[in-house]
Amino acid sequence: MDRQTEIRLIKEILALKEKGETQYDEFTQTHSTERYISEEWFKREKEEMFFGRPMAIGIANEVPKVGDYQSLDWFNGLPLLMVRDKDRQVRVYANACRHRNARLVENGSSGCRKRFSCPYHAWTYSTEGQLVGAPDFDRGFSDMDKEKLGLIEFNSRVVNGVVFVNLNVGEPLPENLVADEMASGFNYLNLEKQEVYKRRSYVIKSNWKILSEGGIEAYHFNVAHRNTLAPFFLGNLATWESWDGMELRMILPKKPILDANELPEAQWDMRKMANIIYSMGPSMLFLAQPDNISMIKMVPLGPGETRIEEVLLVNPPKGGGDSWSEEEMKIHETNHTLVNLILMEDWVLGEAIQANMESGAVKEIHFGRFESALTWFHNEYEKIIGLDRHASERCSS
Ligand code: FES
Ligand SMILES: [Fe+2]
Repeated sequence: MDRQTEIRLIKEILALKEKGETQYDEFTQTHSTERYISEEWFKREKEEMFFGRPMAIGIANEVPKVGDYQSLDWFNGLPLLMVRDKDRQVRVYANACRHRNARLVENGSSGCRKRFSCPYHAWTYSTEGQLVGAPDFDRGFSDMDKEKLGLIEFNSRVVNGVVFVNLNVGEPLPENLVADEMASGFNYLNLEKQEVYKRRSYVIKSNWKILSEGGIEAYHFNVAHRNTLAPFFLGNLATWESWDGMELRMILPKKPILDANELPEAQWDMRKMANIIYSMGPSMLFLAQPDNISMIKMVPLGPGETRIEEVLLVNPPKGGGDSWSEEEMKIHETNHTLVNLILMEDWVLGEAIQANMESGAVKEIHFGRFESALTWFHNEYEKIIGLDRHASERCSS
């Protein structure tokens, strides 16, 4: 987001506020709950959405130094291991030993290593993925070639700090991975320099789409977040733009934006006047607040189960060096707690919605015209999973 865009968006929000409006879609939308609960839809999502397209899985600064690693099981339990190799390249491997498939490191773990040694029989791999050691290999595996037993690697690329991967082994990533405006947004958020403060990982019993939907509409702010977010925001007012591939930038204005008209434009600062969301593909979202960014990964484990990985990204220590001051830590810790508190307000609702959908009591859901990012989301979703090829399952209403 360049300065011109920032100013344009602030003006757009002020104009919407003046008219008492928000960004509308032309029509409402109704969908069957099937797409949230059925194994068949989940299978289709797996094939068309999660394994057929490049996927953002994190930021390069989750592994800032040579030898740093971060593991996370992705869609359907696919065990990913992100590593910074000795040439400082970020690589993404399968967290699976080539001998008999044991995990090299625990799911969700991070650290720094020169070598990855399997806990089962100690086959050992370099940060470049080569098998560099295996006890008694020549005696036990005399007809096998060590060179061919390196870690399975997924094609990956870093765009302005964000790591993209193709989960189909061997398949390349397209030249243009994200829209220019999204890549510009990564720069605006300074994702190349952000550091991981802390992370939380847990499983929510809800379909990933229910959880994603809660992140891209403001209709619920005054109700579901009445004691947390509502006092600071402008209620049901948001503006958004989207690009192909389910890429979206949403602006959720906060009360300080109303003072913009009293300030010279040079002092307009979107980071202080709004929460900014960059949502990418089906399951990665950056939520920018004034002094931190929440990276929220939503990894579908099944139709009714999603792993959430919350990572609080913050600026490097103000005073330089390796650690934040006590005062900085206090702020980060408060934000880390607060973000979780607010997300939990959404997730509790998400679990109840999932349970209700699975009960079959009500068989459809509706999106209003001001939930316009949700109607866009489902239009894109249907394109990607090829709903036209399954038109019989479309809701009749
Ligand atoms: S499974 Fe890894 S060394 Fe045997
Ligand atoms: Fe919410």
